[in-house]
Order: sequence, then structure tokens, then C-alpha cells
Amino acid sequence: MKKILKIISSVKGAESKSTQLADAVIEKLTAQYPGTSVKVKDLSREPYPHFHEGHLKVYRGMGEVAQEAVAEVEKVSDEAINELMSADIIVIGVPIYNFNIPSTLKAWLDHVMRAGKTFSYASGQKEGLVTNKKVYLAVSSGAIYSEGPMQAYNFAVPYLEASLGFIGITDISTFWAEGCDMPGYKETALQKAIERVAV
Ligand SMILES: Cc1cc2nc3c(=O)[nH]c(=O)nc-3n(C[C@H](O)[C@H](O)[C@H](O)COP(=O)(O)O)c2cc1C
Repeated sequence: MKKILKIISSVKGAESKSTQLADAVIEKLTAQYPGTSVKVKDLSREPYPHFHEGHLKVYRGMGEVAQEAVAEVEKVSDEAINELMSADIIVIGVPIYNFNIPSTLKAWLDHVMRAGKTFSYASGQKEGLVTNKKVYLAVSSGAIYSEGPMQAYNFAVPYLEASLGFIGITDISTFWAEGCDMPGYKETALQKAIERVAV
């Protein structure tokens, strides 16, 4: 029995290919671990605020901040971190928007990548504090990035691997529906990606 955190970042609702791919991953996981619970976090419907001065002051203990602001800021970030820490497995749907992850997913990362909470330099060296997690990335893109001229534009997956790795999450598997907007590929892209899903 596992606890899964499913993170959606497409704006397309039920039509989303990254979400459908994430669902295929979760279907296999729930078959493998009966009784598994799934908490859904739709960043498109309920986005986190952009990182601002108040967040910086509170997260880094810098300067004077009104108590209400501290409480509000901490609530946003603490809840996100608690959800992450409580999960055994995190399945993230990632549509490629303008060569990168959706800004809503970046905003979520800005609130969970927090000094003293999810990473620490207390020992003198950087230590990721989010341990014993498995992440599945369910990516979908209009173009093809695994080969050909767009290969050099694959920023999203290396970026997610680096960011999640920074906070201690290094066990990451990626499934990718590519060519979703290209005639000759889009007809089968999602199905082929679903067939490659192995957990
Ligand atoms: C605003 C926007 C920007 C996009 N930018 C890119 C891009 O840079 N590269 C790409 O391959 N596809 C791009 N696409 C296409 C999507 O990645 C593709 O349609 C994908 O399947 C969307 O995933 P979803 O169905 O989960 O929303 C873009 C789509 C939108 C709506």
C-alpha cells in the first residue's frame, strides 16, 4: 500500500495527454500495490502564487515581516511540503509549454524547494531532505525531443531532474508522449507512450 501524489500541470483538463499518461502510470501502480491512495493536485485549477518578496523574507528569515504574512506564506509552502513528504510516489504530468515546464509547476517548485525544510547546508554541504521517494514524470510534447533537431531543446526533463535531485529525489522515471501535434505521430503518440509505461 502506497501513498501517491498526482500532480497535474496541463490546462487541458480531461483532454490532457500528460494527465492521461500520468493516469496510465497510476493504474499500473495501483494494480501493483492494492489499497494505494491517490491525492490529486491540479496546479492549473489551483495554482500557487508566484514567488515574491514576502516569501523570500519568510523562507530565509530576512527582515521584518508582519505575523499574518508569515502565517499565510508558511501555510502555502508548509502544506505543499507536507503533501510531498507524506507521499511515497509522486506522479507528475508535464506538458511542454514554450520549451519548458508549465509556470504553475515552476511555482510549486519555488514553494517546495525551501532551505531548512527540503534541503540544507547545515553540515557544510548541500543535503537533500526529501528522501525515499519515487517520481514518475509523464511528459507530453507537440514536437519530438528524443532524436532529431529538437534534441538540444529538451530543457524540461533535465531541469526537473536537477531540481528534484537538489531536494533529494533522485529515483526518477520518465515516460514521454512526443510528437503529439505532428501529423503522422500525433495519432499514436499517447498510446505508444502508455504502452512503454513500466513501474
Ligand atoms: C502554450 C503552449 C506552448 C507549447 N509549447 C510547446 C513547445 O515549446 N514544444 C513542444 O514540443 N510543444 C509545445 N506545445 C504543445 C504541447 O506540448 C502538446 O500539445 C502537449 O501534448 C500538451 O500536453 P497536454 O495535452 O497534457 O496539455 C505547446 C502547447 C501550448 C498550449
